[in-house]
Amino acid sequence: NDIEIGIVGSGSMGGGMTLLFSQNGSRIGCYDYDKDAVRKLMDEAKEDENVDEKLVHGFTSLEKMMKAFPKGSGDKKQPRIVVLSMPHGKPVDGIQKDLLPLLDEGDIVIDGGNEWWEETERRQAIAKEKGIEWVGMGVSGGYQSARHGPSMSPGCTKEAWEFLKPYLEKWAAKTPEGEPCVMHIGPGGSGHYVKMIHNGIEHAHLSILCEVRALLHYQLGLSNDEIANLFESWWKSGPLRGNFLVGIGFKGLRFKEGGGIEHAKDGIVEKIEDKVTQDVDLSEGTGTWSAKEIAERHVAAPAIAAAHQLRIISSDKFERIKVADNLNLPQPSKAKEAKLDEAEKGKLLETVQTAVYGAILGAFIQGLDIITKASQDQRWNISLATCIKIWRQGCIIQSDAIAEFLLPLFEKFPPSEPINLLKSIPEIAKELAKTYDAQKKLYSIAIETDAVAPALGASLEYIKAINCRDLDTNFMELELDYFGHHNYDIKGKTEKGHEKGKYHTEFAKMPGV
Ligand code: 6PG
Repeated sequence: NDIEIGIVGSGSMGGGMTLLFSQNGSRIGCYDYDKDAVRKLMDEAKEDENVDEKLVHGFTSLEKMMKAFPKGSGDKKQPRIVVLSMPHGKPVDGIQKDLLPLLDEGDIVIDGGNEWWEETERRQAIAKEKGIEWVGMGVSGGYQSARHGPSMSPGCTKEAWEFLKPYLEKWAAKTPEGEPCVMHIGPGGSGHYVKMIHNGIEHAHLSILCEVRALLHYQLGLSNDEIANLFESWWKSGPLRGNFLVGIGFKGLRFKEGGGIEHAKDGIVEKIEDKVTQDVDLSEGTGTWSAKEIAERHVAAPAIAAAHQLRIISSDKFERIKVADNLNLPQPSKAKEAKLDEAEKGKLLETVQTAVYGAILGAFIQGLDIITKASQDQRWNISLATCIKIWRQGCIIQSDAIAEFLLPLFEKFPPSEPINLLKSIPEIAKELAKTYDAQKKLYSIAIETDAVAPALGASLEYIKAINCRDLDTNFMELELDYFGHHNYDIKGKTEKGHEKGKYHTEFAKMPGV
C-alpha cells in the first residue's frame, strides 16, 4: 500500500490532480483535514472509470500520509514528493511548519497553488536549512485541466527539476504534437511569478472578451447565439484560432439553463449578476499582485491594469448603483452600426475580430514585458520561448495562432537578452500596428454609445502612447519642475534612459509669478 506521491488538499484542484496522477499509474496519497472532502474524493475515484481506485488513498492525518511512503525513501536517492494544492499565504505556512519535521533531506515539496513569489522564496530558504527542495509551481487551467492535464511552471533548482521532470511531463497537458506543457522556468520564485503574470494576462483577455461581447450584443444588436457562432468561427480559424477563452466563451453563450437559472431564452449570461469578486483578502490574489508588479517594476501594461480596475468597480454592486444614482449619466446605448446591411455588418465583424486580436496580442506583450523585466531584476534568466511553450495547451491564455506567431520570434532571442518586445522584435510591432485602425474603430463605437470598455481603451491608448514620437508630457514636466524642482531635459539635449533631466527653472523668481 505504499504511496509514490503525496498531495495536500483535496479541493477541486488537489482532487483533480490526485485522479490525474493515479490515472497515470502512480499510487497517490491525498491528505485533507476535512473528512467529508476526503470521502468525496474517494467516491469520485471509485466512480471514475479511468482511475484504478486502489491507487488512491485518502488521509485525514498528514503524519499517516507521510508514513505511507515506502520505507527507506526520503533521502537524495529516493526523495519523497509532496504536492500542495491549497490557498496561498498562511495555510501554506501552516503546512510547511507541520510538514518539515516529517520530511528528510532530499525530499521535494511542490507548492502548486498561486503564490506571491517572495513568499515562495522565503519558504524555499526555510526548507533549504533542512536540505529540502521547495518548488514554487504555477498550475494553470482550472479544475478541469487539473484532472486532465494542466500547464505547469515550476521554479526550483536544476536538480529538483531533473528529478521531477519525468513525473511532471507525464501529468502535463500535451500539444497536438505530444509536447508536454511543462518546462523549468528558473530558480527561486520564478515559476510562481510566471503563473502570476499568466493570470494578469488572463485578466486582460477576460476583460477584452467581456467588453466586446457586450458591444456586439447591446451596441451592435447581435443575439448571444449569433455571438456564439462568431466566436466559434474566430476560435476555428484566423488570428484568434485556439484561444481558450474564446473557445469556452462560445460554448458558455449557448447555455440556456444553468445552476439556479431555469430557462433563459437569450442564454444564461443575461441572468448572471455583473459583480466579479476578488479573493477574500482584497490585498491579495494574482490580479492584485500583477497590478502591483506593473507599478513597482515600472513596466507599461495598461490593459492588464485596466482589466483589474474594471473587476474592482464591478465587485460591489450596491455601492455602484448608489454612485450611478448620483452621477445620473447616460447608460450604454445602441450603435448606429446596428442598422448596417448584411454585407456591411460582415465587414464590421471582421474589423471587430482584428481589434480583439490586437488587444489580446497587446496583453501578451505587456505581460511578457513584465516577466522580462522581473527576470532581469531577479537574475532568473526566464526564456520567453519557454513561457509560450508551456502556454500552448492546458492553460487559460492558450492561443494557438498567437503562440505560432510568437514562438519562432522568441526562439531567435537568447533568454537573458534585455528586451522590450515592441522595440527589439520589429515583427511584433508591425503585427500590432496592423490592428490599430480596427482597435480605433471598435473603441470609437464604445465612446459614441457610452459602452464600458476600459481594457479595449487601454489597449488602444497603449499603442498610441508608445508610438508617439513627441508626447505632450512636456507640460507635465514643466509643472512638476515648477512645484517640485523635478528637473527636465531640453529637446535636442535629451539623455538616454530613465534618468531625470538636468535643467531647472526658478519659476518663483520669474517676473510676474
Ligand atoms: C488558472 C487560473 C487560476 C485562477 C482562478 C481565477 O490559470 O487556472 O488563472 O489559477 O487563479 O481561476 O480566479 P481569480 O482571478 O479570482 O484568482
